[in-house]
Amino acid sequence: MNLLIINGPNLNLVGRREPGIYGDQSIDTYLNKLYRKYNSVSFSYFQSNHEGEIIDKLHEVGFSDLDGIILNAGAYTHTSLAIADAIAAINVPVVEVHISNVHSREEIRHHSMISPFCRGVIAGFGLDSYRLAVESFLK
Ligand code: DQA
Repeated sequence: MNLLIINGPNLNLVGRREPGIYGDQSIDTYLNKLYRKYNSVSFSYFQSNHEGEIIDKLHEVGFSDLDGIILNAGAYTHTSLAIADAIAAINVPVVEVHISNVHSREEIRHHSMISPFCRGVIAGFGLDSYRLAVESFLK
């Protein structure tokens, strides 16, 4: 099982960024624990604060033998028709992830441009949302 985790803008700051919303554990610490827990899964990771780089990565891996992509597009979730188009274009299935429950936050976060093109959506379980996304590919 080969999975790629893609994190979009500002997610490199998880652990320091708004800890009341995103927690105080760094994303690197969390992901290293996740990799250890699922040691039979081969993980790769990409983070970018730039929309076009996320699209380039989706194109790069989207026709490969990767089993799945776990994507937290950050604020681009709510704005990016271009990322939505890239997900629609590729063959590898994408699961949309959010750390926070976007539906309990400001109205602008209630709409996702990318959800229609994703296999499923996991939101609101803190960093555990990423683990739940991994589980969804193991079934
Ligand atoms: C987020 C939710 C988005 O609304 C926000 O812009 C983020 C993080 C989350 O993981 O909860 O950057 O995707």
